[in-house]
Parts: sequence; C-alpha cells; structure tokens
Amino acid sequence: MTRTFIMCKPDAVERGLVGEIVSRIERKGLRIVAMDMRVPEVALVEAHYEEHADKPFFGELVTFLTRGPVVAMVVEGPDDGTWHLMRTLIGKTKVEDAQPGSIRGDFATTTNENLVHGSDGTESAAREIGLWFPGLA
Ligand code: RTP
Ligand code: MG
Repeated sequence: MTRTFIMCKPDAVERGLVGEIVSRIERKGLRIVAMDMRVPEVALVEAHYEEHADKPFFGELVTFLTRGPVVAMVVEGPDDGTWHLMRTLIGKTKVEDAQPGSIRGDFATTTNENLVHGSDGTESAAREIGLWFPGLA
C-alpha cells in the first residue's frame, strides 16, 4: 500500500466539483484516509509549491490557492505508485493536453485553474502529507 496527497483547489470548491472528484477517486478503488477543508495559510502554500518558487507564475499560484477553502486529502492504494494512478485520473498539467476522461480533461478550461493537485512522486507525496497532515501516522 502507498499513499499520495491530493487537493481539490479553490476552483473545485467554488464550482461544486468536490463530490465529483471524491467520487472518481472512490470509484477507481482508492481509499481516502484523511480529508480536511480549510483556507490554507500563505506560508503552507509557499512550502507546498517550493519547487516553483522561481517561476513567473508563482505569485499568481499562491494567490489562487489561498483565495478560499481547499479540500486536502490523503489517498491510499493497494500497490506502489498510488501517486501515479492519481496523476492519471487528474490528467495532464497543460489544459490542452488533458485527455477527456480525466478530471482536468472533463472539467478544466485553463491551466492556471485546473481543479486538482496530486503529488508527482513517492518523495513529494511523503513531504506533502507531512506538510498538510503533520499528525498523521
Ligand atoms: P499540481 O502540482 O497543482 O498538481 O499541478 P501539476 O503538477 O500538474 O503542475 P506543476 O508543474 O506542478 O504546476 C503547478 C501549478 O502551477 C500552475 N501552472 N501554471 N502558467 C503556467 O505555465 C503554469 N504552469 C503551471 C498550474 O496551476 C499547475 O497546476
Ligand atoms: Mg505539481
């Protein structure tokens, strides 16, 4: 079993798509083992996206992520690479590349507001779970 960190971003909450996203995760056969809705602190989002600190879109990204509540989740699957299964369900980063059938492919129209975050590897999953759910064993 392995875990990954998933977040419904503020646009997903605003558009009423949290249920749709949670439903897709559950229907896939993955298990949600922690879930919390909150407006994240700027410092948490900056730490979360620290790999992008030098990018031109970083300021806009932090403003977006802190403009309202997000739903942070830990998702568990039976094998290695739960993070990878979730990235496939989420779809590609660039909105024009996100395939129909994926969350972004079905529901997103811009790359900036793309509804869901998923960790992009085993190490980033562990780091992000620790940031968002420090009490989780
Ligand atoms: P995420 O971390 O949110 O799951 O998204 P991702 O891995 O698919 O994409 P990543 O490269 O980590 O980028 C993080 C978020 O920054 C915004 N972005 N904007 N304007 C741009 O070129 C650009 N590139 C990325 C997106 O909101 C992306 O989800
Ligand atoms: Mg990313």
